[in-house]
Amino acid sequence: PVDVRVKDLLKRMTLAEKIGQMDQISVVRMQGDCEWSGGEFTPACLKKVLVDNAAGSVLSGGGAGPSVNTPENWAKMVNTVQKYAIDNSRLHIPIIYGVDAVHGHNNVLGATIFPQEIGMGSTWDPDLVGDAGASTAKAVAATGIDWNFAPVTDIARDQRWGRYYETFGEDPLLAGTLAASAVEGIQDAKGAKQVAATVKHFGGYGEPGNGHDRVPGDVSIRYLQDTLLPSYKQAIDAGAQSVMVNSGAINGIPATASHYLLTDVLRKKWGWDGVEVSDWADVVALQNSYHIAADYPEAIAKAVNAGLDMAMEPYDAQGWSDGLRTAVQRGLVTEKRIDQSVARILKMKFDLGLFEHPYVDASKADSRVIGADTALARQAADESQVLLRNDGDVLPISSSAKKIVVAGSYADDINDQVGGWTVGWQGVPDGVTLPGTTVLQGIKKAAPSGTRVVQATTADDAVAQAADADLTVVVVGEKAAAEGSADSPRPELSADQVALVKALKATGKPVVTVVLAGRPLVLGDADGTQGLLMSWLPGTEGGNAVADILFGKVNPSGRLNATWPKDIGNEPMYYQQLPGTNAGPESFVDAAYPFGAGLSYTTYAFDSVKARSATSRTRDTVHLTVKVSNSGNRDGDLVVPVYVSRPSSDVLSPSRRLVAFTKVHLKAGQSRTVSLDVPPSRLAVTPGDIDGAGKQQVERGDYVFTAGDKTAAVTIR
Ligand code: IFM
Repeated sequence: PVDVRVKDLLKRMTLAEKIGQMDQISVVRMQGDCEWSGGEFTPACLKKVLVDNAAGSVLSGGGAGPSVNTPENWAKMVNTVQKYAIDNSRLHIPIIYGVDAVHGHNNVLGATIFPQEIGMGSTWDPDLVGDAGASTAKAVAATGIDWNFAPVTDIARDQRWGRYYETFGEDPLLAGTLAASAVEGIQDAKGAKQVAATVKHFGGYGEPGNGHDRVPGDVSIRYLQDTLLPSYKQAIDAGAQSVMVNSGAINGIPATASHYLLTDVLRKKWGWDGVEVSDWADVVALQNSYHIAADYPEAIAKAVNAGLDMAMEPYDAQGWSDGLRTAVQRGLVTEKRIDQSVARILKMKFDLGLFEHPYVDASKADSRVIGADTALARQAADESQVLLRNDGDVLPISSSAKKIVVAGSYADDINDQVGGWTVGWQGVPDGVTLPGTTVLQGIKKAAPSGTRVVQATTADDAVAQAADADLTVVVVGEKAAAEGSADSPRPELSADQVALVKALKATGKPVVTVVLAGRPLVLGDADGTQGLLMSWLPGTEGGNAVADILFGKVNPSGRLNATWPKDIGNEPMYYQQLPGTNAGPESFVDAAYPFGAGLSYTTYAFDSVKARSATSRTRDTVHLTVKVSNSGNRDGDLVVPVYVSRPSSDVLSPSRRLVAFTKVHLKAGQSRTVSLDVPPSRLAVTPGDIDGAGKQQVERGDYVFTAGDKTAAVTIR
């Protein structure tokens, strides 16, 4: 049994070897003499990291990979690091290699890139998210990698935040359910290796105080328990083997040093025993950025005593070894505490089968596994499209259209539609063009033979071309942001793009706006075109997916997982606002398009929602059935959300809160009754006054469950 093997190994390890296991280092293109160019690493670098400091883990962060970026080269590179560690360490302990494969194995050229999570969130389809996770894990495994730093499980409610696009959106239940599926997909995939998933960034990373990345957030315990933590809990309960810690600070304590988050919640309350890894250089940040430690040993002690198992160091293996050894010598950290973490790390390695199968066959790392799932990527991109306007049924485009103009600077650049965390950190590096289909290419491929598709390259050209066209598709957007300086405080369409759409509107010809962006963008004068399609960052198959919707090959089924603001002054932006004395139903949310919005080419009816029992107890699951019909004349997929509201409650409750959902296929004319369960955890709230930090509980009283325009009342006693 694994526990016996862990104990046995731990007994034979020196303190220095144990300290090394807790260290994660970036070797590729980060350590001076570790350049990999498809040949060999410089042994001096590997020796320093893997032997002298016995580092237990290696990562490729932010797109760092072999400079000749092929799948086979990746596998060879990882095999080389692994072989060096096993052959040269005293106890032959394999390293565990980690990478950010957040929407496909996007570190590798030629890989299938799925829509970024914000788009995956708008599919409301847990199975699809699980399948994408499994596809990614197979590709990751083929390149020798064992650990995927995904899924991003943070709730994002401030659209100024540069990492908004990496999340599944603003709703705790939706994000938690999709993250749980991603974990299962990644970890259950049968690839060349087992791959561990990482629930990140625990907890509350999506709560940046003033909208900027890693700015401390101040939240009440009520908000933390009821809103920010449940998504991580759902993903952890799905069996996640690791968690990555929030780089930011919550309520005056950096998460990396928070005993409350890392031990009281994760270990004691949730009973989870997986591996907690820090984010990039966050232990040293306790000293250098947060100034809560006088020196590095003290910083290490704070993190380790809070509960951290592994430090993503990632530059300085020697610094970590010296620092933790000094912390032990000073009596700041006990060897017993170190043993706990090392046991968890070794267990993860045993569970992944690393001792038995440390290498992969590099000759199998190719397009059979990487880039093979284009059909799945297209389905994901199709399902993530959210049709927000379709005035006068401008869509699907009529097959008798003679001329379509495609305008806008986002129409024909593949790199703009694949998001971030690709072969580069904040997107695709200059000079690299990913394989895939742009919107222009997708439209050209899908247009009927009698339809001419013309690309307009300037605003004047677009207006001139529109004169004798049936329709203009204008593709606008925003580049994916990421950590730090890529934050942008103004979630709005740029002025030149607004001007272009405005000019096209003035032609009087029908205009369909396609938005390629990782967050809703205030459209201002660009709003109000006949058609509006939120395409998010749809990945390598994005152009085909847009065309599928525009020409009606696919009936749109995506629903907004993010409230779309009318004005940039309205952040943070989310539907679960609490009531106020000057506020309307969803408080001050001035939404252009509300959470859950999305049109289809057919019509649906919510016929009824029924509770199995009109009364229930606080510990009971509420069983509901919802009858829905496709009352139109096209087959389609319908998202069925159930919201709860409280006519009266002890602590404030939002006007609606998502408590269950499913997605069903309905043929034209078909009706279906679906069962939806609401366990007590989805109704529980934190009780007490302003200073309270009570345990979550289900309040007694009346609850109204709403699906579409139908409701069912339940009294909980
Ligand atoms: O996994 C990432 C994290 O999301 C942000 N900082 C760097 C890590 C490793 O690349």
